[in-house]
Amino acid sequence: MNKGNTGLVVALTFVATLGGLLFGYDTAVISGAVSAIDHYFIDPQHLSQTAASSLSGWTISSALLGCVIGSAVAGWFSSRFGRKGGLMVAALMFLIGSVGSAVPEFGLGTIGAMGPAALTPFIIYRILGGMGVGIASMISPLYIAEIAPSEIRGRLVSFNQLAIVIGILLVYFVNWYIQSLGTPQWYYDTAWRLMFASEAIPALLFLGLLAFVPDTPRWFVMRGRTEEALTQLTRVNGAERAAAILEDIKRSLHVRSESLLAFGTPVLLIGIVLSVFQQFVGINAVLYYAPLMFKNMGASTDSAFMQTVVVGAANVVFTFVAIATVDRLGRKPLLVIGSIAMGASMFLLGGLFDARAVGMWALVAVVAYIAGFALSWGPVVWVLLSEMFPNSIKSKAMAIAVAAQWIANLFVSWSFKVLDGNPWLNHHFHHGFAYWIYGAMSVLSAIFVVRFVPETKGRTLESIQELWQHHRRDAAAVAARQ
Ligand code: BGC
Repeated sequence: MNKGNTGLVVALTFVATLGGLLFGYDTAVISGAVSAIDHYFIDPQHLSQTAASSLSGWTISSALLGCVIGSAVAGWFSSRFGRKGGLMVAALMFLIGSVGSAVPEFGLGTIGAMGPAALTPFIIYRILGGMGVGIASMISPLYIAEIAPSEIRGRLVSFNQLAIVIGILLVYFVNWYIQSLGTPQWYYDTAWRLMFASEAIPALLFLGLLAFVPDTPRWFVMRGRTEEALTQLTRVNGAERAAAILEDIKRSLHVRSESLLAFGTPVLLIGIVLSVFQQFVGINAVLYYAPLMFKNMGASTDSAFMQTVVVGAANVVFTFVAIATVDRLGRKPLLVIGSIAMGASMFLLGGLFDARAVGMWALVAVVAYIAGFALSWGPVVWVLLSEMFPNSIKSKAMAIAVAAQWIANLFVSWSFKVLDGNPWLNHHFHHGFAYWIYGAMSVLSAIFVVRFVPETKGRTLESIQELWQHHRRDAAAVAARQ
């Protein structure tokens, strides 16, 4: 970087990645509280087994609904109030969601005495926290991509993924520690509340630090605040480069229409399909149900917890591979390598279940799968989503692609349970079927990348926009010839 200020970019990236950390923390905090939630909110209702498990399933996954809503509105927030304003809303939602889920009785009745009557407010607070996740999941990578110099943009956006997986791992330990502090009764009465409340610490830190960061140059230009944009660009890139980038940004906004399809349908579809594949390869079926899966393999609760930590740690460690290579190797090669690794390990895992041979090899397959995801589809999809859309449609298009991702996430988490509980499939495939589906999806994802995804390594955001414009002109020329 010539005469730029790497320190400043790294500091701003760090603040934005707290959104990623809270994304991971909030989605995984529930894992430690599941049995307490059942004990406090569900069991006293004396429902039939089916009704109880469906209510418990809804309570646990309700936050994902918030994620869908949050990501869908994040496009509007981030263009109206700015990337910084959107992140501040997310931080507030995290805070409200965390404190509210810890004491859902607040303002309604005596804490600890309401029992199931506090379930509805609990679910509402979980949805609000989920909205924070949805908003941050879109705006944190967007913010980083818009401040980053192009030659290190992939690496910096990948730090957000690192923060997500660190958030997941961190909360496993926090939950484990809190649980170890008292008796089982204390866990049912108090520990689960502390688990949710602990999220207020990173949420407050995020909110406080956000007060000190500026908005992004691209957003300033969109709002006609060119002076502020130039100041930002100069601080990061040095004066000479800043002027050139500013011109590029201005030019990129000279599209006549702001319609979502101003650059053709392929760009939007490719973004959506990338997002959906990131979920259809089964990552969250493996992450959310890892302890259950390890128990199915015959591990005791304690060693299931340890194996879950191994999975979380592999997720962190292999994200570094992406950080180190995404700007050198490029986005496409990493995605293809990851798809191959995930496909092979899922076919192996499905086969081991089918042959009733789960054991050490199954753990190896799971860790290889996680490694494959962490070095590719985990970070790289966020990198691509944050950089592939032209400036004038960026926030809307990215919000749609990210909302599609959360819907796909809901679908996979729900359908895994359905597949895993189906007696016919279990009779024929011994719990292995779902993994074969994820293996097949991994293969399809590789074909999709090779065929449709453009390489964006090293290009400025504005020159990526030109790629789509060329693509559109070529398509129009072909149509005219026919
Ligand atoms: C995905 C999440 C996943 C996380 C953990 C993220 O990139 O979007 O769905 O839980 O990675 O690896």
